[in-house]
Amino acid sequence: MRIAVLVSGHGSNLQALLDANLSGQIVGVLSNKPTAYALQRAHVAGIATQTIEHQNYASRDAFDQAVHAQLLAWHVDLVVLAGFMRILSPAFVTQWEGRMLNIHPSLLPKHKGMHTHAKALEAGDTQHGCTVHFVTAQLDSGQSLAQGVLTVNVDDDQDSLAQRVHKLEHKIYPLVVEWLCNKTLVYQANGEVLLHEKKLHDPVQIFEE
Ligand code: GRF
Repeated sequence: MRIAVLVSGHGSNLQALLDANLSGQIVGVLSNKPTAYALQRAHVAGIATQTIEHQNYASRDAFDQAVHAQLLAWHVDLVVLAGFMRILSPAFVTQWEGRMLNIHPSLLPKHKGMHTHAKALEAGDTQHGCTVHFVTAQLDSGQSLAQGVLTVNVDDDQDSLAQRVHKLEHKIYPLVVEWLCNKTLVYQANGEVLLHEKKLHDPVQIFEE
């Protein structure tokens, strides 16, 4: 399994994937921002990088086509979005259906979009966490595969939640990527997802230790 990781920022999830001893191979790291620290992490790990700056492209489609071309050049089987802060066009997403993952810092379908920790606190949620899901054309809406779950404490604030959720992310993202690498998890042509050869209805929940 040849994996590309798409990043825009710090890249701690990329680091977790690099450290995870996956049976697949991370063949390239692509950023839309030249200053993303994630690129340094890729350099240190000896992995090819490419920066494709969205502002150099006239349209979203043109940018997406450049990204797609790079993924093809790397002969990628699986695209892993790890803090990639661009919305990808439906045409692009369709081409990678069942082969592109994202991680989102909430227990989807709760709190799509930004500011998820603030939203969870405001809603008075007793549980919060993160979700690894397949990417579809609708934002944060593809099938959820695994969730990292924590109990919100009375003294939690946005920072403490962000920190705890990040830790959970570093645990569940490599896990799900490895499931795809070793075919424990399979996306079928009819859109169904099998885990251990059984249809997956709800995401696997992994609780904070
Ligand atoms: C994570 O919180 C992830 O849920 C969201 O973007 C953040 C990326 O963090 N999609 P990092 O760059 O991997 O540290």
